[in-house]
Amino acid sequence: MSKLALFGGSRTRTAAYPSWPVHDERDVEAVAEVLRSGSWGGFPYPGPQTQRFLDAFIKMQRGQYAVAVMNGTITMEVALRAAGIGWGDEVLVPAYTFQATASAPMMAGAIPVLVDIDPDTFCIDPEAIEAAITDRTRAIIPVHIASQMADMDAIMAIAERHDLIVIEDAAHAHGAMWAGKGAGALGHFGSFSMQSTKIMTAGEGGALLCRSQEHAWRAASIIDCGRPHDPAGELYTQGGNYRMTELQAALLNVALERFPAQAQMREQTANYMDESLSEIEGIRVLPRDPRHEKRAIYRYTFAVDPEAFGATNKIIERALQAEGILCWSGYDPMYRYDLFRPKDSRLAVPSAFPQYFDLENMRLPVTERISAREGLWLDEEIFREGKGAVDEVVSALRKVQAALAGDSTLAERIRALG
Ligand SMILES: Cc1ncc(COP(=O)(O)O)c(C=O)c1O
Repeated sequence: MSKLALFGGSRTRTAAYPSWPVHDERDVEAVAEVLRSGSWGGFPYPGPQTQRFLDAFIKMQRGQYAVAVMNGTITMEVALRAAGIGWGDEVLVPAYTFQATASAPMMAGAIPVLVDIDPDTFCIDPEAIEAAITDRTRAIIPVHIASQMADMDAIMAIAERHDLIVIEDAAHAHGAMWAGKGAGALGHFGSFSMQSTKIMTAGEGGALLCRSQEHAWRAASIIDCGRPHDPAGELYTQGGNYRMTELQAALLNVALERFPAQAQMREQTANYMDESLSEIEGIRVLPRDPRHEKRAIYRYTFAVDPEAFGATNKIIERALQAEGILCWSGYDPMYRYDLFRPKDSRLAVPSAFPQYFDLENMRLPVTERISAREGLWLDEEIFREGKGAVDEVVSALRKVQAALAGDSTLAERIRALG
């Protein structure tokens, strides 16, 4: 049995992973062209690079209309405001996600209501959505997390029954397809992030798909200082400047050229990862929903059965990271985030609506289980590198498993490392 790297053994992976973002002379030239043009900013909105990006992105996601913005947080706030959702309205969000999914509704004055997740996708659970609906619920923000998609058919059916707006948080899901449609084009709005870790990036950036023309006009106005964007020039809003710059759009236009080959490579590697992990005792590969036709691999999620494997996700994370594998045990339940404990404003939503934020007593069982015991994430770089990187993940997991089996004190010693 080989000694774990965590305790001085040799590392499974020693080489650097392929770096991100990928760039070459095309990016340099695209940025130089914008610099030479003298049109660097986002005004007048949309500039030529921005319009080109929006047209291509709408086509790629099979959407209808889109606006280009600063990031993938403001997108969700803008969507809520464009749909007339604000102060005191309830917005259902999964409890297992990045803080932006809940901060965006709060910035619009709405109350994020945290909902439990499905253990097979780590995405919001439609049954839990149904149970959380009240007469103040106005919207649902499902997050397509890591490489998974929320059950959009079930979510849209619920939304229709209760007259709710659906904003897909597709920050991780560029290129993902569900039953013939792109992520972000299934709900009323689709929010994308182009922040530097995302699989399509301009350093920062965001795009908001809108299903209706009216919503798109409102969204364009909100992000462009309130100027009207409808043909009649009548639809003014209370807007701000949230525009994407032409420099960002130029980088995204190059990123779009590279994207199909990168996405295909990641998906092929993810298929091989599914096969390889399914051979390890105590590892649960998340089931494939046949409607989820194309996966976007921002990160790859899977689960461990702590009893069968011999350790929880936290212990595996610690051991794999020491082995040189890019691995994470995932988000904490969102009710533990400081986001809901603001000290900076009397106007903050949690201060105004304390009845919603009994955080100490909040318990969502699946979120707790996936977060503290079962959920594991692997980074995108592994999937861009290919099969060899998958084999290393498998060897590292087997090494950790064998070490745990051979030493009953090991899990405790790893835990004690903190
Ligand atoms: C699920 C999710 N939603 C939204 C965002 C926010 O995107 P941005 O950083 O572009 O504001 C992120 C991450 O950055 C995210 O992971």
